[in-house]
Parts: sequence; C-alpha cells; structure tokens
Amino acid sequence: MVETTHVTWHRAAVTRPRGCVVWFTGLSGCGKSTIANTVDAKLHALGVPSFVLDGDNVRHGLNASPAMLAPIHGEAFARRFGLSFSAEDREENIRRIAAVTELFCSAGLATLTAFVSPYRRDRELARRHVESSGAQGDFLEVFVDAPLEVCEARDPKGLYKKARAGELKGFTGIDDPYEPPEKPELVLQSAEHRPDILADEVIAYLRKLGKIPRP
Ligand code: ADX
Repeated sequence: MVETTHVTWHRAAVTRPRGCVVWFTGLSGCGKSTIANTVDAKLHALGVPSFVLDGDNVRHGLNASPAMLAPIHGEAFARRFGLSFSAEDREENIRRIAAVTELFCSAGLATLTAFVSPYRRDRELARRHVESSGAQGDFLEVFVDAPLEVCEARDPKGLYKKARAGELKGFTGIDDPYEPPEKPELVLQSAEHRPDILADEVIAYLRKLGKIPRP
C-alpha cells in the first residue's frame, strides 16, 4: 500500500473472507449490465453476497457530471470534481470505481462491474489495485465481445444514433477508441448467446476458482 504524507493505513480488526471483482468491459450496448445483473441474481439465489456497480448508475452519484454537481456545489467545484467522457475523466471514473471495488471485495462481496472502461491501462491499474490488497485471482476481466454493428443496431439508449448525427462527440466505438483486453479471464460472445447462458459461464468460472461453494 502506498503511504501518503501524514496518512497511515489502519488495519481492520476483523478478518473477513474476501469476495472478488468481476470486471465486465465492452462497448455501450454490448450487454455488460444485463449479464452482470443476471450473474447477480444467480449469486443471490446461491446465497453468495454480491453487488453490481453499473456505469450509468455510478455516474448519477459518486461520479456525477459537472452539470449535475453545479446547482448544489457551484461551478468551480463542478469543474474540479465532475466527470465527463474525456480520456482523463474516464481514467478518473475507473480509478474511483477500482477503489470502491477493492473495498467491496474486502467486505466479502462478489463485486460485478459494468463499465465501458475502454482503456487497457485503466483496467490494468484497477486489477493491480484490487490484487495489491488481496491475491491474484481476486480480479477477473470479462470481455463482453459484440461487434460494433450489433451494439449500434440495438442502440438501447439511442446514443449511437446521436453520435452518428454528430450530436454526441467522443462516443466509444464511433469517434473514441475501445481497446479490447489482450488476456481477459473470460470472453463472452454476446451477439451469439443469450445473457442467461453467458451468466452461467461466469458462474462456472467463479465456481472453478472456489469463489462459490460447490453444490
Ligand atoms: S467509461 O468509458 O468511463 O467506462 P461508463 O461505463 O462510466 O464509461 O459510462 C458509459 C455509459 O455512459 C454508456 O453506456 C452510455 O450510456 C453513456 N455515455 C454517454 N456518453 C458516452 C460516451 N461519450 N462514450 C461512451 N458512453 C457514453
């Protein structure tokens, strides 16, 4: 753990079994949230404590936009702490989420995240942060792989349409990059299989790792 000036790490009095972090990454509309929520429901049914952190939801609170913060906290505060979709703001989005997932993992939760997280380096830093306080195997990168054409045809929020029309700049896959994982623990072909089948793949993987009690 890096030590910051005049801030020292306080060890917890209680030792808990660690959870894990299942980090779903992929284009907007590829199915990350649907699969993560299906895994969440299956874990819940198995009695495994779990939680989903979802990009759109987290950007309503912890990682709110400048426009959301300004009315309450003022313009200067909103500019400083509000997050947009620039490369730097996406980096900070993922850095904060990584810190939260590490806490949830330490609290014993199977923590499922659904963020586009387009940059390899940001995902790698998230992995390092989680593994630094636990063990290798606590962090699973899951690439939800669907071709851009499929995500764009689905367009559940109408954002691809806006991006193509030039009304939304810097949209991942259109005029902003997505760096696919090089060595993810799992690749899910979400254009070919239903979310339920893919969620079962994740469950089977977690079972193999011993993160879920055997039936
Ligand atoms: S990330 O790139 O910083 O990881 P995050 O997962 O939090 O993104 O948010 C992505 C969601 O925000 C998308 O599913 C989409 O609904 C919405 N969104 C709005 N603007 C953009 C954009 N420029 N690029 C990607 N997603 C965007």
